[in-house]
Amino acid sequence: MANGMDFNFDVCPERSGTDSTKWARYAGRDVLPAWVADMDFASTPVIVDALKQRLEHHVFGYATAHQSTHEAVIAYLARERQWQVEPEWIVFTPALVPCLHGVIRAETPAGGAVITTTPVYPPFLSAPVLSGRTAECVPMVFDAGRWTFDFDALDAAAKRSQAKVFLLCNPHNPLGRVFTREELEKIAEFSARHGLVVCSDEIHCDLVLDPDAHHISYATLGKEVAHNSVSLFAASKTYNTAGLLCGYAVIPDKALRARFRRALAGVANEVNIFGLVALEAAYRHGAPWQRACVEYLRGNLDLVLTEIARTPGVTIAQCPQATYLAWLDARALGVENPAAVFEAGGVGLNNGADFGTPGFVRLNFGCPRERLREILRRIRATAEATKR
Ligand SMILES: Cc1ncc(COP(=O)(O)O)c(C=O)c1O
Repeated sequence: MANGMDFNFDVCPERSGTDSTKWARYAGRDVLPAWVADMDFASTPVIVDALKQRLEHHVFGYATAHQSTHEAVIAYLARERQWQVEPEWIVFTPALVPCLHGVIRAETPAGGAVITTTPVYPPFLSAPVLSGRTAECVPMVFDAGRWTFDFDALDAAAKRSQAKVFLLCNPHNPLGRVFTREELEKIAEFSARHGLVVCSDEIHCDLVLDPDAHHISYATLGKEVAHNSVSLFAASKTYNTAGLLCGYAVIPDKALRARFRRALAGVANEVNIFGLVALEAAYRHGAPWQRACVEYLRGNLDLVLTEIARTPGVTIAQCPQATYLAWLDARALGVENPAAVFEAGGVGLNNGADFGTPGFVRLNFGCPRERLREILRRIRATAEATKR
């Protein structure tokens, strides 16, 4: 029960044959999809009702966010992120991946370098290259029981590459880290030292599972930090509305915002009319569902940890603090492509190589518990057969 509303995450709609990217990949095969980052749950009724109401208008022309959407975003950032933003700082966008390109193109000369850390959400690696730049990758390190930044290596990479942009993922996909104030302050110092603009992708910030972790928006560290930053948000991961194509960048610095807009002009400037409706409904009325979803995901995560502990050759170095994604170390299985092995065993996972780290796989546990149980059973059976 949440605010008098009951949400049942144990039951979800059939997604096969519904144009779902996640399910289409394995159509007609006995492979349970646990890869791309969307959940199998129906979205919250408040979003569905708002979309139905919009549909009844029967006119679906080009969309521009109106004042109440701006107000909903501003109220959300103040309430949930402790960040007071001005309306003109907000740039609506159909999706966040184009924004990575926008920041890179706006702030880095052709052929220049962009720094990021690995493993990381694959577009952080491909966006620099597709935009005609290079990706300078610095591996994350596992230190004192947690994945964190290697600041010496970051300094060396910045010096060597003369990069102008740092791509930050917080909460981190795929490691599930929610970075501490201390870590973020060190990122801010590092970025100031090397004159880097930080693009902080915070799409997973409403999916913090660890009760002791608190998400801090990078730009709230200080005025100077905010002025050298682009922060990316969307309701799409939390409320399962990625197909509605709507997110936004928050860019306090006027000149940076103008360069960003120019870099994306004519390429990614139209937002989806239903996406705007979903975003506003989520931010105004979605919290009870979001809290219930996080609670359910915590239960799923417990199951993942229990079952992976019983799975030979597969470990999780650090329990994810956020997201519905678990980063599994399958190197002890001794196979070149563990994702292919698990796929043959009936589970579709993401291949760690795509995140810059072969030998790992990423598991999406945003699904009904019984399905997750079967996914984990297949993972264990495959690992047992492979280890033998
Ligand atoms: C860190 C991160 N950023 C961005 C995205 C995708 O955003 P969009 O669909 O708005 O391009 C994802 C999707 O998984 C993600 O994990």
